[in-house]
Amino acid sequence: MSDKRPRRTFAVISHPDAGKSTLTEALALHARVITEAGAVHGKGNRRATVSDWMEMEKARGISITSAALQFVYRDHVINLVDTPGHSDFSEDTYRVLSAVDSAVMLVDAGKGLEPQTLKLFQVCALRGIPVVTVINKWDRPGLAALELMDLIEQKIKLRPTPLTWPVGEAGDFRGVLDRRTGEFVKYTRTAGGATRAPERRMPASEVEEVDLDVWSDAVEEHELLSVDDADHDQAKFLAGKTTPVMFASALQNFGVAQLLDLLLDLAPAPGPTEGVDGTTREPEDDFSAFVFKVQSGMNAAHRDRLAYARIVSGEFDRGMVVTHASTGKPFATKYAQAVFGRDVSSIEHAYPGDIVGFVNAQSLRVGDTVYVGDKIEFPPVPTFAPEHFMTASAADIGRYKQFRRGIEQLDQEGVVQVLRSDLRGDQSPVLAAVGPMQFEVVQERMTNEFNSPIRLSRLDFQVARVTDADGAEALKGARGCEVLQRSDGTYLALFTDQWRAGVTARDNPDIMLEALPAGGS
Ligand code: G4P
Repeated sequence: MSDKRPRRTFAVISHPDAGKSTLTEALALHARVITEAGAVHGKGNRRATVSDWMEMEKARGISITSAALQFVYRDHVINLVDTPGHSDFSEDTYRVLSAVDSAVMLVDAGKGLEPQTLKLFQVCALRGIPVVTVINKWDRPGLAALELMDLIEQKIKLRPTPLTWPVGEAGDFRGVLDRRTGEFVKYTRTAGGATRAPERRMPASEVEEVDLDVWSDAVEEHELLSVDDADHDQAKFLAGKTTPVMFASALQNFGVAQLLDLLLDLAPAPGPTEGVDGTTREPEDDFSAFVFKVQSGMNAAHRDRLAYARIVSGEFDRGMVVTHASTGKPFATKYAQAVFGRDVSSIEHAYPGDIVGFVNAQSLRVGDTVYVGDKIEFPPVPTFAPEHFMTASAADIGRYKQFRRGIEQLDQEGVVQVLRSDLRGDQSPVLAAVGPMQFEVVQERMTNEFNSPIRLSRLDFQVARVTDADGAEALKGARGCEVLQRSDGTYLALFTDQWRAGVTARDNPDIMLEALPAGGS
């Protein structure tokens, strides 16, 4: 699979329960990776499994990591990169989205735009990622199609440009009007939606009597949309000004083929990426990649640590020696491995847009670049403004060594931001999080993985601003403020509240106090 076919690398973003797992399975079904949906995990136990994809992999023997699902469709290689669902992990999502070229925003037709959908969409906008919108669950009663278009326009300030329009209202899904050809794509239900749903394309003149009423409604709305300038414009889509929209029922495999076709026809292929010094790597240049996710503790039997990297340019050959940009040291991929699924040696080569997992890559951190040839370093993945702060200390002082190692590891993985100061010392660093659930992950992993239960105690800060060494010096002893340093060297000035941050900035115009992007829900 890892040959030179063109790539499409994307992620599905959605509010929990909008149907991300179902759609992922449906996409794999359409790409004929699997032959029957639903067989993978029994009804109701979807969320009980650590990773749905791991289960799919076990059941079907397909190429999956917990980071990406890879399959071939119409002679393209498609990389579907997984994103965490909960808003408390928006920093993780941000990192994952740095590895994709486009995103599919999945909307539940019955619920409209939910909080996490909005949040994730903002992350895409921040990163300039083109977004395709899929209105899912059209087989169930829900909002009117035009109302959903209004919501998208008003709430996310993106002009929806539907490529398909539903024939039949939500709950009576007959098929779609292909707005580019004017044809009716009629769907046929299969038992439980378990197999690829057959579809028939026909010109308007051949629409059957039974569908004529709903067809003429669809035609009328389609014409309204055209008058309203809601037709697809490729340049505006790539510039993040519009979002193509499709209607689907992931559960019944309706609209899934159209989505795959759309991704191939309209979504961007891997392109050039700029480094911090302004030089650019084109996909055909020497090999380069950046790490967007580090994960460990997946296999309790041995301490494994996987660094997932997105290939930006060149060909990856397992065994090649690359340079680790932040240390300048060689990194031998012979001892790492390109991992897809459990079959650690199954991928020998990978290409721009692909995701490679380096095993036991102790030196690689989130944001790091590896390359061959002329030096390139890609910009770090920006961090969000933490809004929750806790001091952490080892519950059992005899386990201090384990405590240090665990905190360092979780820091490198980006599970929380770890802040230190001379004043506080290393015994009780400050953990900073965008969402409170991040602390639960720290607590759980420190206890079970690093054998060092911790004590957390809340600090009365809510606001963080980036400052520099001079600012840190000047703010010593300031009221309602404490300056700490992150492990990447950044100084963060923490304030009890917005008001205090504002007053401090006003009274000290010479001090650097920059806001970070807000990530909290
Ligand atoms: P998530 O990964 O985004 O959290 O969502 P997931 O795919 O698990 O889907 C959430 C629920 O929505 C599931 O129902 C799933 O069957 C249902 N669903 C997904 N897509 C569609 C669709 O197109 N139409 C309809 N009608 N339902 C859809 P559940 O009851 O939670 O699970 P299950 O018992 O059906 O497995």
